[in-house]
Amino acid sequence: MKLQNIKEFLEFKPGYKKEGAKRLKRHLEAKGFKPSLENCRVALREVRRGSSNSTYNGFSKKTKDTEDLLSKVRDLAKNLGYNLEAETKPLINTNLDDLIVKTPSISKQVGMHIVLGCWHVPFHNKTLHKGVRKLIEDYKSEIKGFHLIGDFLDLNALSSHDRGKFTSIPGLTLSQEYKAGNIALDQLTENLEPDCWKTYLYGNHEDRYNRWMRDMDNAKTPLISPKESLKLNERGFQTKTSWSQDYFKLGKYLDIFHGIYFSIHSAKAHMDKLRGSCMYAHTHRIQQYIEGNTGSFNIGAGADFSSPAFGYASRAMKSQWQNGFAVVMIDEDGSYHTTQVICQNGRFYFGGKKY
Ligand SMILES: [Fe+2]
Repeated sequence: MKLQNIKEFLEFKPGYKKEGAKRLKRHLEAKGFKPSLENCRVALREVRRGSSNSTYNGFSKKTKDTEDLLSKVRDLAKNLGYNLEAETKPLINTNLDDLIVKTPSISKQVGMHIVLGCWHVPFHNKTLHKGVRKLIEDYKSEIKGFHLIGDFLDLNALSSHDRGKFTSIPGLTLSQEYKAGNIALDQLTENLEPDCWKTYLYGNHEDRYNRWMRDMDNAKTPLISPKESLKLNERGFQTKTSWSQDYFKLGKYLDIFHGIYFSIHSAKAHMDKLRGSCMYAHTHRIQQYIEGNTGSFNIGAGADFSSPAFGYASRAMKSQWQNGFAVVMIDEDGSYHTTQVICQNGRFYFGGKKY
């Protein structure tokens, strides 16, 4: 085995530079080569010194050639009127962080919080949606928090149930769903004060995107995420994307999250397992379970159950579903007071007014 070959091996496997010549020789012999001990000694000495004959310098030269080439491309682009430096700057504007109201102190949370779950846009209940917009307009100066607790988007186009088939509305695309999501979010947030704490939790439907991207072949041609497409950072939303793990805490005691358990008595199940007050959606049912000061609130959905997107559900299952949402008041001491709003045909009453 020639000296140059041993040096090339050492550049390829730099860990062996730390070994002695005898050990290097044994290792090369185990791979079927026949190096002399002297060549191993010289190769180690020269490679450690960074000999001018080593391939490392060859690599450096290649790197330099690449840099020279890139520099020429940049100059050429500049002559053509493009600024490649600007094009390659990171897309994330760190100033966006300033727009996001992070979990405020209890004193800044004191007031009204609107909690909405399972809107399933574009299959949301348009009458209810309109009523909630009006409610927000009526109470805008009192609203300190606006919380979307999952499945705000349906992401029908990414449903694993429909792989290889058309979506439940043939022709519906992901970009159309994102567009509808942006419109619905514009409408719901248009009257919120700039310092309103806004949170967005992924539900199992937004998680369709995460599952899609976990497939290696899909990840090679990535799709835009719900967080990016809804411009949640730009809108000032504090966003969490792990639907079965994440939650936000309202005041000192009330955890809000998408919901995990689907059993008939899911409100009790959530309290039993999580040992604290909680509010969730996910089941599309409305329930409440109270034990002393601790409460578990299942707040219903904002979806239009007659939509073809829910064609998978039996009539019996849908008969248990209910449109609704929650209004939570946070007190100075961090405690909470909950109103679960139950809707009939998309209409509801709040504060004596029909919406
Ligand atoms: Fe859900």
